[in-house]
Amino acid sequence: MEYIKAFEKIVEEQLARVEKLNAAGEMTDYSKLDKTVIGIVDGDGIGPIITASCRKILEVLLADEIAAGTIELRDIKGLTIENRVAKMETVPEDVLAAIKECNVLLKGPTMTPGKGDDLPNLESANVKLRKELDLFANVRPVSIPEKNINWTFFRENTEGEYALGSQGVDIGDDMSIDFKVTTTAGTKRIAKAAFEFAKNNGNQRVTIVTKANIMKKTDGKFLSLCYEVAKDYPEIEVDDYYVDITAANLIKEPQNSRFNVFVLPNLYGDIITDEAAQIQGGVGTAGSVNMGSKYAMFEAIHGSAPRMIKEGRGAYANPSSIVKAAEMMLRHIGRIDKADILIGALEKAMGSLNMTSDDKGNTTEEFTSAVIENL
Ligand code: IPM
Ligand code: MG
Repeated sequence: MEYIKAFEKIVEEQLARVEKLNAAGEMTDYSKLDKTVIGIVDGDGIGPIITASCRKILEVLLADEIAAGTIELRDIKGLTIENRVAKMETVPEDVLAAIKECNVLLKGPTMTPGKGDDLPNLESANVKLRKELDLFANVRPVSIPEKNINWTFFRENTEGEYALGSQGVDIGDDMSIDFKVTTTAGTKRIAKAAFEFAKNNGNQRVTIVTKANIMKKTDGKFLSLCYEVAKDYPEIEVDDYYVDITAANLIKEPQNSRFNVFVLPNLYGDIITDEAAQIQGGVGTAGSVNMGSKYAMFEAIHGSAPRMIKEGRGAYANPSSIVKAAEMMLRHIGRIDKADILIGALEKAMGSLNMTSDDKGNTTEEFTSAVIENL
């Protein structure tokens, strides 16, 4: 019977979340803000090294805005595994409060304890921040010009298997149950984001990805609500595929070049975007934006590389991914001009650098100087 009580609590919490979703405001219009506060969260492992490099670059790139007070770079300390374990909080309360004072976040990698790490089983800080800041859209573009591939994935980022990922229940030793949650408000807003993007980018085709033949309630709801939202966009071609055949079709030429925008529930989005990134050239090559109506978080794609630190190679960490995240952040806050300069400088610098992550190549410091020189 205690299981029933546990389930009751879960349902109540999720219903409370739905209420909050229904009350969520409009998307932030950054052009209307007097000042945009960019929170820089350094994270674990090589996180502090690459974010410090990126910060130095941004200080030069945004010198005028910082001097005029329209942009502030603000360091957010304490999202480290040591502090999280000491406080036994996934995101310590004071850190979360400081984060919520910012408009956008540039975040270094944070470590997630796994089985065998000898650490308490804390939830992923990323997943927690996505939920806490209600960053409902994980937008991941993939482009392979020579194959005429131009995909944009709209992965729902707060629901599905992730909503209660750390709240499953063991029923004694014999059975374990996890939960999957799909809400009407949560689905409609990701569908709307995908269709708006498709509309604003030349009425691209939208493909809905589910496994609604099996997950009849949750994916069934996702699928039917996406089609309902599609009715507001009669000029857009829309279709749907199951996730298994989607995985196959992504590597089927030339059909794969006919896909454009995808809208997917959380876990399928997680898996399919790794596949898509690999097709593009590797998971390290893809960018990812976590977007909500009030906040947005931009992060390096890779992990905290604890081995590099252990082996004393921290000074050779490669900040490319976080710099690309900064570029996407600048676009998001409407500073397209600065984003173009930054990506140009990064590409030019990378032409002359050899970042091997060890003493055979360039150091992080040399990377930083080279990008700054090319700004
Ligand atoms: C991602 C990652 C995360 C996820 C992990 C680190 C929790 O795989 O951003 O795709 O599963 O969402
Ligand atoms: Mg993933």
